[in-house]
Amino acid sequence: MNVKSPMAVAKVVVLGTGGTIAGTGTDQKALTYQAAQLGVDEVVEQVTSAAADLAGIPVESLQVAQIDSKDMDWSVWQDLARALQAELAREEVGAIVITHGTDTLEETAFLLDRLLDVSKPIVLTAAMRPATSDEADGPRNLHDALRVAHAAARQGQAGVVVVMAGKVWPGRSVRKVQSCQIDAFDGGGCAPLGLITDSGAITDTKDWPTPGGGGWACLMADQPPRVEIVTSHAGADGWVVDALLAQPLAGELKGLVVAGTGHGTIHRGLVRALLAAEERGVRIWRSTRVAYGGVDFREGDRWPAAGTLTPAQVRVALMLDLMGIPSAGIRA
Ligand code: SIN
Repeated sequence: MNVKSPMAVAKVVVLGTGGTIAGTGTDQKALTYQAAQLGVDEVVEQVTSAAADLAGIPVESLQVAQIDSKDMDWSVWQDLARALQAELAREEVGAIVITHGTDTLEETAFLLDRLLDVSKPIVLTAAMRPATSDEADGPRNLHDALRVAHAAARQGQAGVVVVMAGKVWPGRSVRKVQSCQIDAFDGGGCAPLGLITDSGAITDTKDWPTPGGGGWACLMADQPPRVEIVTSHAGADGWVVDALLAQPLAGELKGLVVAGTGHGTIHRGLVRALLAAEERGVRIWRSTRVAYGGVDFREGDRWPAAGTLTPAQVRVALMLDLMGIPSAGIRA
Protein backbone atom coordinates (compact mmCIF):
# COMPACT_ATOMS: atom_id res chain seq x y z
CA MET A 1 0.00 0.00 0.00
CA ASN A 2 1.17 3.48 -0.84
CA VAL A 3 1.20 5.06 2.62
CA LYS A 4 2.86 8.39 3.37
CA SER A 5 2.61 10.19 6.71
CA PRO A 6 -1.10 10.64 7.56
CA MET A 7 -2.59 14.17 7.40
CA ALA A 8 -3.91 15.52 10.68
CA VAL A 9 -6.01 18.18 8.92
CA ALA A 10 -7.55 17.01 5.71
CA LYS A 11 -9.19 19.91 3.95
CA VAL A 12 -10.61 18.75 0.62
CA VAL A 13 -10.55 21.15 -2.33
CA VAL A 14 -13.02 20.52 -5.15
CA LEU A 15 -11.83 21.73 -8.56
CA GLY A 16 -14.76 22.15 -10.96
CA THR A 17 -14.35 21.67 -14.70
CA GLY A 18 -18.01 21.34 -15.77
CA GLY A 19 -19.60 18.18 -17.19
CA THR A 20 -23.02 16.64 -16.67
CA ILE A 21 -22.49 16.74 -12.90
CA ALA A 22 -22.96 20.52 -13.35
CA GLY A 23 -25.57 20.10 -16.08
CA THR A 24 -29.19 21.29 -16.17
CA GLY A 25 -32.21 20.70 -18.36
CA THR A 26 -35.98 20.90 -18.39
CA ASP A 27 -36.42 17.21 -19.10
CA GLN A 28 -36.62 15.23 -15.84
CA LYS A 29 -35.70 12.05 -17.69
CA ALA A 30 -32.52 13.80 -18.81
CA LEU A 31 -32.76 13.13 -22.51
CA THR A 32 -31.91 16.73 -23.33
CA TYR A 33 -29.81 19.00 -21.15
CA GLN A 34 -26.77 21.26 -21.20
CA ALA A 35 -23.60 20.18 -19.44
CA ALA A 36 -21.54 22.67 -17.39
CA GLN A 37 -24.25 25.10 -16.23
CA LEU A 38 -24.00 25.15 -12.41
CA GLY A 39 -20.96 26.61 -10.70
CA VAL A 40 -18.87 24.23 -8.64
CA ASP A 41 -19.73 26.17 -5.45
CA GLU A 42 -23.41 25.37 -5.98
CA VAL A 43 -22.74 21.73 -6.87
CA VAL A 44 -20.66 21.29 -3.72
CA GLU A 45 -23.06 23.23 -1.49
CA GLN A 46 -26.00 21.03 -2.57
CA VAL A 47 -24.10 17.96 -1.38
CA THR A 48 -22.36 19.22 1.75
CA SER A 49 -25.44 21.00 3.14
CA ALA A 50 -27.52 17.83 2.88
CA ALA A 51 -25.07 15.25 4.25
CA ALA A 52 -24.52 15.03 8.01
CA ASP A 53 -21.58 12.67 7.56
CA LEU A 54 -19.67 15.37 5.65
CA ALA A 55 -20.03 17.92 8.45
CA GLY A 56 -16.57 17.21 9.85
CA ILE A 57 -14.82 17.53 6.50
CA PRO A 58 -13.67 21.06 5.61
CA VAL A 59 -14.43 21.54 1.92
CA GLU A 60 -13.48 24.40 -0.42
CA SER A 61 -14.29 24.74 -4.10
CA LEU A 62 -12.66 26.43 -7.06
CA GLN A 63 -13.92 26.78 -10.63
CA VAL A 64 -11.10 25.86 -13.01
CA ALA A 65 -13.14 25.49 -16.22
CA GLN A 66 -16.79 25.20 -17.22
CA ILE A 67 -16.95 22.90 -20.24
CA ASP A 68 -18.66 19.89 -21.71
CA SER A 69 -15.69 17.55 -21.53
CA LYS A 70 -16.05 16.59 -25.20
CA ASP A 71 -14.31 19.95 -25.68
CA MET A 72 -11.39 19.15 -23.36
CA ASP A 73 -8.10 20.47 -24.68
CA TRP A 74 -4.51 21.22 -23.77
CA SER A 75 -5.27 24.71 -22.42
CA VAL A 76 -7.85 23.36 -19.94
CA TRP A 77 -5.35 20.70 -18.85
CA GLN A 78 -2.86 23.52 -18.31
CA ASP A 79 -5.36 25.44 -16.15
CA LEU A 80 -6.07 22.29 -14.18
CA ALA A 81 -2.34 21.67 -13.74
CA ARG A 82 -1.80 25.20 -12.39
CA ALA A 83 -4.73 24.88 -9.97
CA LEU A 84 -3.55 21.45 -8.80
CA GLN A 85 -0.04 22.70 -8.26
CA ALA A 86 -1.26 25.63 -6.16
CA GLU A 87 -3.74 23.61 -4.08
CA LEU A 88 -1.47 20.61 -3.51
CA ALA A 89 1.21 22.97 -2.21
CA ARG A 90 -1.07 24.18 0.60
CA GLU A 91 -0.18 22.32 3.76
CA GLU A 92 -3.73 22.30 5.11
CA VAL A 93 -5.08 20.66 1.95
CA GLY A 94 -5.21 16.91 2.37
CA ALA A 95 -6.90 15.88 -0.86
CA ILE A 96 -8.32 17.13 -4.15
CA VAL A 97 -11.60 16.17 -5.81
CA ILE A 98 -12.06 17.08 -9.49
CA THR A 99 -15.57 17.26 -10.97
CA HIS A 100 -15.36 16.41 -14.69
CA GLY A 101 -17.50 15.33 -17.61
CA THR A 102 -17.61 11.60 -18.23
CA ASP A 103 -16.75 11.79 -21.93
CA THR A 104 -13.02 12.47 -21.67
CA LEU A 105 -12.54 11.61 -18.01
CA GLU A 106 -10.35 8.62 -18.92
CA GLU A 107 -7.91 10.92 -20.74
CA THR A 108 -7.61 13.45 -17.90
CA ALA A 109 -7.33 10.69 -15.29
CA PHE A 110 -4.61 8.95 -17.30
CA LEU A 111 -2.71 12.21 -17.88
CA LEU A 112 -2.77 13.16 -14.19
CA ASP A 113 -1.83 9.66 -13.09
CA ARG A 114 1.08 9.68 -15.51
CA LEU A 115 2.44 13.12 -14.60
CA LEU A 116 1.70 13.66 -10.93
CA ASP A 117 4.22 12.51 -8.39
CA VAL A 118 2.02 13.43 -5.43
CA SER A 119 1.83 12.61 -1.78
CA LYS A 120 -1.91 13.40 -1.61
CA PRO A 121 -4.99 11.71 -3.09
CA ILE A 122 -6.68 13.11 -6.20
CA VAL A 123 -10.21 11.82 -6.80
CA LEU A 124 -12.06 12.51 -10.04
CA THR A 125 -15.83 12.18 -10.18
CA ALA A 126 -18.62 12.87 -12.65
CA ALA A 127 -22.26 12.08 -13.42
CA MET A 128 -24.32 10.49 -16.17
CA ARG A 129 -27.48 12.49 -15.36
CA PRO A 130 -27.69 16.27 -14.96
CA ALA A 131 -28.36 17.88 -11.60
CA THR A 132 -32.00 18.57 -12.56
CA SER A 133 -32.84 14.95 -13.40
CA ASP A 134 -35.04 12.69 -11.24
CA GLU A 135 -32.16 10.22 -11.46
CA ALA A 136 -29.31 12.69 -10.78
CA ASP A 137 -26.28 10.60 -9.80
CA GLY A 138 -23.91 13.56 -9.31
CA PRO A 139 -24.79 14.20 -5.65
CA ARG A 140 -24.07 10.62 -4.62
CA ASN A 141 -20.88 10.48 -6.69
CA LEU A 142 -19.57 13.75 -5.25
CA HIS A 143 -20.55 12.69 -1.74
CA ASP A 144 -18.68 9.40 -2.21
CA ALA A 145 -15.70 11.19 -3.76
CA LEU A 146 -15.43 13.59 -0.81
CA ARG A 147 -15.54 10.72 1.66
CA VAL A 148 -13.01 8.65 -0.28
CA ALA A 149 -10.69 11.67 -0.61
CA HIS A 150 -10.94 12.52 3.08
CA ALA A 151 -10.43 8.92 4.21
CA ALA A 152 -7.48 8.46 1.84
CA ALA A 153 -5.80 11.65 3.10
CA ARG A 154 -6.20 10.46 6.69
CA GLN A 155 -4.63 7.13 5.78
CA GLY A 156 -1.76 8.76 3.91
CA GLN A 157 -2.80 7.27 0.56
CA ALA A 158 -1.80 9.15 -2.58
CA GLY A 159 -2.42 8.92 -6.31
CA VAL A 160 -5.18 9.41 -8.86
CA VAL A 161 -8.46 7.50 -8.66
CA VAL A 162 -11.96 7.87 -10.08
CA VAL A 163 -15.14 7.44 -7.99
CA MET A 164 -18.32 6.65 -9.94
CA ALA A 165 -21.46 4.67 -9.13
CA GLY A 166 -20.16 3.31 -5.83
CA LYS A 167 -16.81 2.13 -7.21
CA VAL A 168 -13.25 3.38 -6.93
CA TRP A 169 -11.15 2.90 -10.10
CA PRO A 170 -7.43 3.47 -10.73
CA GLY A 171 -6.91 6.64 -12.81
CA ARG A 172 -4.53 4.89 -15.18
CA SER A 173 -6.93 2.23 -16.41
CA VAL A 174 -10.45 3.62 -15.94
CA ARG A 175 -12.59 4.07 -19.04
CA LYS A 176 -16.16 4.88 -20.05
CA VAL A 177 -17.81 1.71 -21.30
CA GLN A 178 -21.48 2.76 -21.33
CA SER A 179 -22.93 5.73 -23.19
CA CYS A 180 -26.26 5.81 -21.28
CA GLN A 181 -26.37 3.80 -18.07
CA ILE A 182 -25.38 5.28 -14.73
CA ASP A 183 -22.79 2.60 -13.95
CA ALA A 184 -20.76 3.75 -16.94
CA PHE A 185 -17.11 3.06 -16.08
CA ASP A 186 -14.85 0.12 -15.58
CA GLY A 187 -11.16 -0.66 -15.27
CA GLY A 188 -10.61 -2.32 -18.66
CA GLY A 189 -10.33 -5.71 -17.02
CA CYS A 190 -9.06 -4.61 -13.57
CA ALA A 191 -11.34 -4.96 -10.56
CA PRO A 192 -12.31 -1.79 -8.68
CA LEU A 193 -9.90 -0.67 -5.95
CA GLY A 194 -12.82 -0.33 -3.56
CA LEU A 195 -16.59 -0.30 -3.28
CA ILE A 196 -18.80 2.22 -1.54
CA THR A 197 -21.92 0.62 -0.20
CA ASP A 198 -25.35 2.29 -0.07
CA SER A 199 -24.83 2.78 3.66
CA GLY A 200 -21.68 4.74 2.81
CA ALA A 201 -19.07 2.23 3.99
CA ILE A 202 -15.88 2.18 1.92
CA THR A 203 -14.55 -1.32 1.48
CA ASP A 204 -10.87 -1.25 0.66
CA THR A 205 -10.40 -4.25 -1.55
CA LYS A 206 -7.05 -3.34 -3.07
CA ASP A 207 -4.03 -1.08 -2.78
CA TRP A 208 -4.17 2.37 -4.28
CA PRO A 209 -2.06 3.02 -7.37
CA THR A 210 1.49 4.24 -6.87
CA PRO A 211 1.69 7.85 -8.07
CA GLY A 212 3.14 8.31 -11.58
CA GLY A 213 6.65 9.31 -12.43
CA GLY A 214 6.39 13.09 -12.67
CA GLY A 215 7.08 15.29 -15.69
CA TRP A 216 4.48 17.85 -14.74
CA ALA A 217 6.42 20.72 -16.34
CA CYS A 218 5.69 19.38 -19.85
CA LEU A 219 2.12 20.64 -19.48
CA MET A 220 3.45 24.16 -19.70
CA ALA A 221 4.52 23.64 -23.33
CA ASP A 222 2.45 25.91 -25.61
CA GLN A 223 1.23 22.97 -27.66
CA PRO A 224 1.83 19.24 -27.33
CA PRO A 225 3.18 17.29 -30.34
CA ARG A 226 0.31 16.56 -32.75
CA VAL A 227 -0.86 12.94 -32.46
CA GLU A 228 -3.97 11.68 -34.28
CA ILE A 229 -5.99 8.46 -33.97
CA VAL A 230 -6.87 6.37 -37.03
CA THR A 231 -9.13 3.33 -36.96
CA SER A 232 -8.65 0.14 -38.94
CA HIS A 233 -11.90 -1.20 -40.39
CA ALA A 234 -13.32 -2.89 -43.47
CA GLY A 235 -12.14 -0.85 -46.45
CA ALA A 236 -9.51 1.09 -44.45
CA ASP A 237 -7.33 1.89 -47.47
CA GLY A 238 -5.12 4.51 -45.79
CA TRP A 239 -6.79 7.47 -47.52
CA VAL A 240 -7.06 9.36 -44.20
CA VAL A 241 -3.33 9.01 -43.52
CA ASP A 242 -2.47 9.95 -47.12
CA ALA A 243 -4.63 13.07 -46.70
CA LEU A 244 -2.84 14.00 -43.47
CA LEU A 245 0.55 13.63 -45.15
CA ALA A 246 -0.55 15.63 -48.21
CA GLN A 247 -1.75 18.69 -46.35
CA PRO A 248 0.52 21.76 -46.13
CA LEU A 249 1.38 21.44 -42.43
CA ALA A 250 2.02 17.68 -42.65
CA GLY A 251 5.32 18.17 -40.80
CA GLU A 252 3.40 18.96 -37.64
CA LEU A 253 2.07 15.42 -37.46
CA LYS A 254 4.36 13.62 -35.00
CA GLY A 255 2.42 10.51 -34.10
CA LEU A 256 -0.41 8.20 -35.12
CA VAL A 257 -2.28 5.84 -32.83
CA VAL A 258 -3.99 3.02 -34.67
CA ALA A 259 -7.18 1.65 -33.13
CA GLY A 260 -6.66 -1.72 -34.77
CA THR A 261 -8.93 -4.67 -35.25
CA GLY A 262 -8.75 -7.58 -32.78
CA HIS A 263 -5.31 -7.91 -31.25
CA GLY A 264 -4.07 -4.70 -32.91
CA THR A 265 -4.10 -5.92 -36.50
CA ILE A 266 -4.29 -3.35 -39.30
CA HIS A 267 -5.86 -3.45 -42.79
CA ARG A 268 -3.15 -3.84 -45.43
CA GLY A 269 -4.27 -0.60 -47.15
CA LEU A 270 -3.76 1.31 -43.93
CA VAL A 271 -0.42 -0.45 -43.30
CA ARG A 272 0.84 0.89 -46.64
CA ALA A 273 -0.07 4.45 -45.68
CA LEU A 274 1.37 4.07 -42.16
CA LEU A 275 4.70 2.88 -43.60
CA ALA A 276 4.78 6.03 -45.74
CA ALA A 277 4.02 8.13 -42.64
CA GLU A 278 6.79 6.38 -40.74
CA GLU A 279 9.21 7.22 -43.58
CA ARG A 280 8.31 10.87 -42.93
CA GLY A 281 9.24 10.54 -39.24
CA VAL A 282 5.77 9.92 -37.78
CA ARG A 283 5.75 7.57 -34.76
CA ILE A 284 3.15 4.76 -34.92
CA TRP A 285 1.67 2.96 -31.89
CA ARG A 286 -0.98 0.25 -31.96
CA SER A 287 -4.04 -0.15 -29.75
CA THR A 288 -7.31 -1.96 -30.36
CA ARG A 289 -10.88 -0.90 -31.03
CA VAL A 290 -12.00 -3.96 -29.00
CA ALA A 291 -13.21 -3.20 -25.47
CA TYR A 292 -11.23 -5.82 -23.53
CA GLY A 293 -7.99 -7.76 -23.80
CA GLY A 294 -5.67 -5.05 -25.11
CA VAL A 295 -2.70 -5.55 -27.44
CA ASP A 296 0.57 -7.25 -26.51
CA PHE A 297 3.75 -6.96 -28.53
CA ARG A 298 4.58 -10.18 -30.38
CA GLU A 299 7.67 -11.38 -32.23
CA GLY A 300 7.73 -9.78 -35.68
CA ASP A 301 5.40 -6.88 -34.88
CA ARG A 302 6.57 -3.67 -36.53
CA TRP A 303 4.97 -1.15 -34.19
CA PRO A 304 4.74 -0.90 -30.37
CA ALA A 305 1.63 -2.25 -28.67
CA ALA A 306 -0.24 -0.22 -26.07
CA GLY A 307 -1.40 -2.95 -23.68
CA THR A 308 -4.86 -2.36 -22.30
CA LEU A 309 -4.99 1.43 -22.67
CA THR A 310 -7.84 2.84 -24.77
CA PRO A 311 -6.91 4.54 -28.07
CA ALA A 312 -7.66 7.96 -26.49
CA GLN A 313 -5.31 7.17 -23.57
CA VAL A 314 -2.64 5.90 -25.98
CA ARG A 315 -2.84 9.24 -27.80
CA VAL A 316 -2.01 10.99 -24.49
CA ALA A 317 0.77 8.48 -23.78
CA LEU A 318 2.34 9.02 -27.23
CA MET A 319 2.18 12.82 -26.86
CA LEU A 320 3.99 12.51 -23.53
CA ASP A 321 6.51 10.05 -24.96
CA LEU A 322 7.29 12.52 -27.74
CA MET A 323 7.96 15.08 -24.97
CA GLY A 324 10.43 12.70 -23.34
CA ILE A 325 8.12 11.14 -20.76
CA PRO A 326 7.89 7.40 -21.42
CA SER A 327 4.81 5.43 -20.35
CA ALA A 328 4.79 2.09 -18.64
CA GLY A 329 2.60 -0.42 -20.42
CA ILE A 330 3.76 0.33 -23.98
CA ARG A 331 5.49 -2.77 -25.34
CA ALA A 332 7.94 -2.84 -28.20
C1 SIN B 1 -19.28 15.78 -20.52
O1 SIN B 1 -18.47 14.86 -20.69
O2 SIN B 1 -18.95 16.89 -20.09
C2 SIN B 1 -20.72 15.58 -20.85
C3 SIN B 1 -21.18 14.21 -20.62
C4 SIN B 1 -21.07 13.75 -19.20
O3 SIN B 1 -20.51 14.39 -18.31
O4 SIN B 1 -21.61 12.64 -18.96
